[in-house]
Amino acid sequence: MDNNLKPVTLKTFQRMKETGEKITMLTAYDFSTAKYIDEAGVDSILVGDSLGMTILGYDTTIKVTIDDMITFTKAVSNGVKRAFVTADLPFLSYHVSKEQTILNAGKLIQAGAKAVKLEGASDFILEEVSHLTQCGINVVGHLGFTPQYINAIGGYYIQGKSYENTLKLLQSAKKLEDNGAFALVLEMVPEESAKFISENLTIPTIGIGAGKYCDGQVLVIDDVLGKYPGNLPKFVKQYTNLQEIMKNAISQYNNEVKAGEFPSSSYSFNLPEEEREKFEYSYNQ
Ligand code: KIV
Repeated sequence: MDNNLKPVTLKTFQRMKETGEKITMLTAYDFSTAKYIDEAGVDSILVGDSLGMTILGYDTTIKVTIDDMITFTKAVSNGVKRAFVTADLPFLSYHVSKEQTILNAGKLIQAGAKAVKLEGASDFILEEVSHLTQCGINVVGHLGFTPQYINAIGGYYIQGKSYENTLKLLQSAKKLEDNGAFALVLEMVPEESAKFISENLTIPTIGIGAGKYCDGQVLVIDDVLGKYPGNLPKFVKQYTNLQEIMKNAISQYNNEVKAGEFPSSSYSFNLPEEEREKFEYSYNQ
């Protein structure tokens, strides 16, 4: 087997942390995008609950349900051969009871994910992380700005903006690590704080808006491709403008149909000569 096609596992993440090779991660929500990401050699795909905004058009991730996540996790997993697929446990799907958390996480694993991601590090969440890992369900933590807590935080604010707050974040990160999380997403944290946290953990950090010293990077695919119609945060680099490409193609299609230019004969099926003649005969009667 081509080494590049060897599926990414937890061991791969750990090796990359130890050797300093950067971990790449992008979000995906559908089969074809997941396939292109996988074929490009990206190590990991996150079926993020950001699909609430990018796919379902909500203004936050709060309305995303476990059933939404199951559908899109299935679609993504069907497109992937090598990349490690993680699916987000959505808002309140891991807060009610240990039983519900395990059942919900299990549904995402049965949909094809290799791990689940959850936000925060309260005592309750830490227990859930421990239960999940004891059931053989891999867990990615998520600290810094945590979108599912948007109503409690009150806005899109950078986290860990002082030495004291960075120490608190590190403490939480270490607890996630101790309870079995194998990787940690750090969102909207100053570069220096993210460096300090990354250097003091044995599990890899995957940053989004957390600077270059994290062990890996993740971005939302719709932002990378310039597809999402909303404003982009400072930390996003847009690599192409799919929005323009899509709008142009759609307008062209619309105009060509209205003008009777599409479908031309090269896009149509035709009867054999002898069958066509019968129509001509009946038209002439
Ligand atoms: O839902 C998501 O896309 C995420 C990333 C922002 C890390 O959690």
